[in-house]
Amino acid sequence: MRLEGKVALITGAGAGIGRATAERFAREGARVVVVDRDEHTGKETVERIMQAGGVAIFVHADVSQPDAVRAMFRVAVERFGRLDIVFNNAGTVAQGRVEDTSEEEWEYQVATTLTSVFLGCKYAVPILREQGGGVIINMASVAGIMGVVNRAAYSAAKGGVVALTRAVALDHAREGIRVNCISPATIETPSLLERIQSAPDPVAARRAFEARQPIGRIGQPEDVAAAALYLASDEAAFVTGTNLIVDGGMSV
Ligand SMILES: NC(=O)c1ccc[n+]([C@@H]2O[C@H](COP(=O)([O-])OP(=O)(O)OC[C@H]3O[C@@H](n4cnc5c(N)ncnc54)[C@H](O)[C@@H]3O)[C@@H](O)[C@H]2O)c1
Repeated sequence: MRLEGKVALITGAGAGIGRATAERFAREGARVVVVDRDEHTGKETVERIMQAGGVAIFVHADVSQPDAVRAMFRVAVERFGRLDIVFNNAGTVAQGRVEDTSEEEWEYQVATTLTSVFLGCKYAVPILREQGGGVIINMASVAGIMGVVNRAAYSAAKGGVVALTRAVALDHAREGIRVNCISPATIETPSLLERIQSAPDPVAARRAFEARQPIGRIGQPEDVAAAALYLASDEAAFVTGTNLIVDGGMSV
């Protein structure tokens, strides 16, 4: 029980990495605030946690919207009386080279993937500071630290998350707030499975994804959840401002 007594808020917890992390954190004793813009899948995550004997609530929010982010934190504190861990995980992935990316696509990518993290940090910091400390984990990607073809806007937004994480970590290190990010490579989530299944040759597409990681497989959401658990736990008490790369060796 590495998170006994803690309250954790996880955005984008209706699917993929966010759901796996919500379930893992609950198993480790945290009470979990499941945030998603998809009400159906978010509530399903809460159901799964409760069926396994954990404690969770669902909060509906589009985390690219300031009002929604302020409200989600308010509900979390009202409901559980405190907040210890914030995982700004929600994000979307746009494909395309810079010349193919419309201004609207750029704005949407930045809003859902970088502005959402900015808001998640901005409105978490005062709450965590008042309590004497806490943990923020931001979701980046290997695309933010290395070149990935056909992902211009996504790479830019994720690079911003890595830089923002360092800045926020330094600004609040003396306030007991640790801020880190995670950079996964290819992880087997619903969005990835959709891409594989819609490829002309799904078997070849899967093999290509597997081959990108020197370890020779696609990562599982649980691989990332384990990294988030480490950063969230007191075992990482001396770790702040870092980018924990979970990529099967892809960026080495
Ligand atoms: N899957 C991968 O291979 C991979 C690799 C590197 C980084 N990531 C990052 O990990 C995070 C989670 O990815 P995933 O693959 O689990 O995604 P996913 O698409 O399977 O799930 C994302 C969840 O976030 C929610 N969401 C999206 N935008 C939102 C918003 N504005 N407000 C509230 N909820 C929102 C969706 O409804 C969904 O439930 C993303 O930030 C993604 O960029 C994923």
